[in-house]
Amino acid sequence: RPVRLADYRPPDYLIETVDLTIRLEAGNTQVSSRLALRPNPAGRVGAPLILDGDGLSGRLAAIDGEAPPAGSVSMSPDALEIAHPPQRPFTLDIETIVDPAANTQLMGLYRSGSAYCTQCEAEGFRRITYFLDRPDVLSVYTTRIEASRTEAPVLLGNGNLVETGDLPDGRHFAVWHDPHPKPCYLFAMVGGVLDALKDGFVTMSGRKVDLAIYVEPGKSGHALYAMDSLKRSMRWDEEEFGREYDLDVFNIVAVSDFNMGAMENKGLNVFNDKYILASPDTATDSDYAGIETVVAHEYFHNWTGNRITCRDWFQLCLKEGLTVFRDHEFSADQRSRPVQRIGAVRNLRAAQFPEDGGPLAHNVRPELYHEINNFYTPTVYEKGAEVIRVLKEFIGDDAFRRGMDLYFERYDGTAAIVENFISCFADASGRDMTQFMRWYSQAGTPVVKVRETYDAAARTYALQFEQSCPPTPGQIEKLPQVIPISLGLIAQDGTEIALETPAADQAGGASAEEVARGMFDLTAKTRTLVFKNVAAKPVPSLFRGFSAPVRLDFDSSEEALRLSLAYDSDNFNRWQAAQTYATRLMQASVTALRNGGRPADPAGFCAAMTRVGEQWRDDPAFASLALTLPGESDLAREIASDVDPSAIHDARRALRSALGQAQAAALTKIHDELSTATPFVPDAAGAARRALRLTALDLITAADPDEGGMRALKQYRSADNMTEMFGALSVLVLYAPSLRDEALEHFYKKFETDHLVVDKWFSLQAMIPEAGALDHIRALMQHPAFSMSNPNRMRSLIGTFAMANPTQFNAADGSGYEFMATNVLDIDKRNAQVAARLLVAFRSWKGLEPVRRAKANAALQRIAAANALSADVRDIVTRSLA
Ligand code: ARG
Ligand code: ZN
Repeated sequence: RPVRLADYRPPDYLIETVDLTIRLEAGNTQVSSRLALRPNPAGRVGAPLILDGDGLSGRLAAIDGEAPPAGSVSMSPDALEIAHPPQRPFTLDIETIVDPAANTQLMGLYRSGSAYCTQCEAEGFRRITYFLDRPDVLSVYTTRIEASRTEAPVLLGNGNLVETGDLPDGRHFAVWHDPHPKPCYLFAMVGGVLDALKDGFVTMSGRKVDLAIYVEPGKSGHALYAMDSLKRSMRWDEEEFGREYDLDVFNIVAVSDFNMGAMENKGLNVFNDKYILASPDTATDSDYAGIETVVAHEYFHNWTGNRITCRDWFQLCLKEGLTVFRDHEFSADQRSRPVQRIGAVRNLRAAQFPEDGGPLAHNVRPELYHEINNFYTPTVYEKGAEVIRVLKEFIGDDAFRRGMDLYFERYDGTAAIVENFISCFADASGRDMTQFMRWYSQAGTPVVKVRETYDAAARTYALQFEQSCPPTPGQIEKLPQVIPISLGLIAQDGTEIALETPAADQAGGASAEEVARGMFDLTAKTRTLVFKNVAAKPVPSLFRGFSAPVRLDFDSSEEALRLSLAYDSDNFNRWQAAQTYATRLMQASVTALRNGGRPADPAGFCAAMTRVGEQWRDDPAFASLALTLPGESDLAREIASDVDPSAIHDARRALRSALGQAQAAALTKIHDELSTATPFVPDAAGAARRALRLTALDLITAADPDEGGMRALKQYRSADNMTEMFGALSVLVLYAPSLRDEALEHFYKKFETDHLVVDKWFSLQAMIPEAGALDHIRALMQHPAFSMSNPNRMRSLIGTFAMANPTQFNAADGSGYEFMATNVLDIDKRNAQVAARLLVAFRSWKGLEPVRRAKANAALQRIAAANALSADVRDIVTRSLA
């Protein structure tokens, strides 16, 4: 049953060309496929040919143009097998019939709104026709699409358009040809009633590319920002990586029913429309940032994913981690680098650290899977991207860029593995990368423990580092990894101390290059660095810019945290100091509250934050980030065991309100001054001002709910953009119960025809942290706008409840867990991928306090005991309980 990396074998047959004819009809789409195959010289001679299918019905019409001899072919919904295929080049003609309208899994060919569309990654192509559905089989595709002109005036495929024409009975056709060999997971076709926003781009070598974004009728005006993001991405990839686009057209189609974010099909990206559609009145700043990132991500896949693809699905990080790294760099260049970095790290810690620390932990490159769709995870994507960043820090920017060039040069047109990629950097840098590979083969978040010693007489300051990595499922012993530590020393007056260490071959020494870069490699289990000529005990600034995806274990004093917050030249660590300080206080409060005591004294923290609030003008983005306390799940993750979500909620609320009270004057000033209406521009500077204004409103409300409610209402009424409007609505809904219902009703009436805004309306209500929240959610599931067949809608209500309402999902009576179990089982019947995703909400259940842990266990057991589970849900529930 399970698939193992160690069992990889090259395919026995290759498919040179694929000629598809797809005759679109809702209940009855005919797919004719002509495959030109040949035995693979690297495969087994005379092996049977087994094509993959998934729930297919059809027939093998011909081998080399002739009806196949009786008994030579066996066929089931899941496979087409030819026991003795010709041992020379040959063709197969395969006919299948599929029903897009009945396809609720949203894999393969399905209907969404007014369009037919496809999703083939990872294994959806086998739901369209029988094929060697594996990424190391690369073929040249020609796709002919036929449809009724009224039902599908727009017909799109991969590559370039080569022919169009009329057919009898009001039908028409289009033929698309993609000259670039590709695996079938990159196949796509779309047919439907769609509007287009069109534009163009000239590449650095002068190729003219027609760009179009197809959206549901009437929405093309909402695709302007996506188009702008696409053009900026195309230019950036040329400038930063020398990568140019390689077809005459680049099309994007936005659909409203999509399991994931988007898909990089060659020349025809298909998107969840939440990552395309935006206007100032309907999208928030974070929606705009999401669009920019996802458009860039899918575009960047053209080189990292499509031109160079993966040999097998174990190598998924080869395209995903690298492409996330590239989209992070793009966003950092387009917006603000520190703000982007803080956002990425927050996301890594919120999504990947809990995965790495729980029963679903796995390597960045897994070695075994039961269901590949369950490995599109934060570990493969986000930690995968961090590993690339570590690589870049380890060998330096120039060697990194040379290594990327080598990779494109050597592996273009191939299906590669992680070792191929890393070998380019070994060659470019001259460094041995053997140990570095442990980032791909060891799961778990490494911990770096740091101890400091200052010797006043010798004027030396020593930092002692020790790395370790906790056991994860199936991996008890861990070996030391390559951990780049970017560090600096801050003097008591806030100035940066010039680093000096003994020479590399002496105790406590470092190489001149390490000292110059302020970047020190921890490769052994321990390392001690000694800094000379340090006049007084400094404050260390460790892992600047979050130079490695580790947990830092360092006991800094409150005084040191205040100094770092005020003076660190690294903005990431200034922010980190505020987070660490707040986390520490709230952790103390949680312990005290659980023992019947009172929250910890916040005076020192609040005083330190005063400066941030008063100096907001210097850097509004920083002020907003620093004044935002770590979330309840951040705290739960730090506490890690015997977690009591309601004590965490109370502790955080206490600190929020103390901070709001202590800063009241500065906060009201911020809220008033930033209200001056400026035209909405979704750029970093505008987003920062709006974010700070909302942070202020949140804290004002925490300290004084009446004052906050009044300000929120005023802001809601006067807002001329969704960011300010929805921010104000959030305060009203979450913290002003008496104003809640009226505000919700007003908002719904105003936006009921915009499904993306209605998703926001559902998700906000799913976050209400009050007893009774679940009843409200159950009632919302009966709302006419709710739907159990649209992934975004299910995620907005059910997913948000499980992932963003920690007190109610973790209600002590287990009602939240039972609710999720019931829904996962229900959704699993229609859409296994979405069901499995929702079930991941239980990933940290083992760290809960005993009463909740028992209830969560019972809910998981109930799922495990159900019959007819999908492979997706079966896999997640089994690993969660293991
Ligand atoms: N390759 C896509 C992206 O990250 C994700 C597709 C995942 N699809 C799936 N069914 N697991 O851009
Ligand atoms: Zn991707």
